[in-house]
Amino acid sequence: MKLVQLSDPHVREPGVLAYERVETAAYLERAVNALNQLVPRPDAVVVSGDLTDFGTPAEMRTARQLLDRLACPYVVLPGNHDDPAVMLAEFADYGLPGEVSLDLGICWRFDLGGVQVVGLDSTVPGEAHGNLGKARLDWLDATLSASAAIPTLIFLHHPPFATGIPHMDRQNLRDGDQLYAVLRRHSHVSHVACGHVHRAIETCIAGIPTSIAPAPAHAVALDTRSDATPQFYLEPPAVRLFYSTGTALLSHVVFLENYAGPYPFFDAEGRTLSR
Ligand SMILES: [Fe+2]
Ligand SMILES: [Fe+2]
Repeated sequence: MKLVQLSDPHVREPGVLAYERVETAAYLERAVNALNQLVPRPDAVVVSGDLTDFGTPAEMRTARQLLDRLACPYVVLPGNHDDPAVMLAEFADYGLPGEVSLDLGICWRFDLGGVQVVGLDSTVPGEAHGNLGKARLDWLDATLSASAAIPTLIFLHHPPFATGIPHMDRQNLRDGDQLYAVLRRHSHVSHVACGHVHRAIETCIAGIPTSIAPAPAHAVALDTRSDATPQFYLEPPAVRLFYSTGTALLSHVVFLENYAGPYPFFDAEGRTLSR
């Protein structure tokens, strides 16, 4: 099982720059092209929110047109920059996988190669921060209770932990404690994967590996000063790749640009290349 998490493309209409600097539609187009050439080929892609920058129908249409070029199936979750209603309208004919609960926002689950994949809508209308609330947590609890005890990977946009970047931590998931109170009851939860911060970050909460994905376009500056100004860098675009070996669920950071290589370590006789 090879599952790519692509998070926070923040697509604007083609030719329009996000923050007067980043042509995010072009970045997503290059990301899609890179994923289509990835070896091993991913089985599916989860787009974990902030597909758009301003949540408009035109931006969502652009995002979908670019994502439709993926060579493998993909699924979407909303982020705080998206309008879930606009997302549902744009993807109405696309179909979401497995069991879907749209009265809770956009929540879904499906099985992929021996791994259960669960998506939770963590958005709060009109707010930048995230919150799951009792109804979604009850759905998660029931979903995990009803499913086979196979390794389970959970996606949501807002991270349930503080990253040390103050202006982002003010808008993370507000009810992370309640989320992990549910997850503690289900020993088959293997990983919680988030977006929102545009940086590759890993931690462990209640014994469960928990991560944030890097972004395919701009990265939030790593600035932990209490008065840090919200800023971004154009760091190497990247995604997270979840890879199940059958005995372990691994997480790789995969960079998306063209880099020199691959170069061999050994010559034709198996000797280490050296001079
Ligand atoms: Fe974002
Ligand atoms: Fe976000």
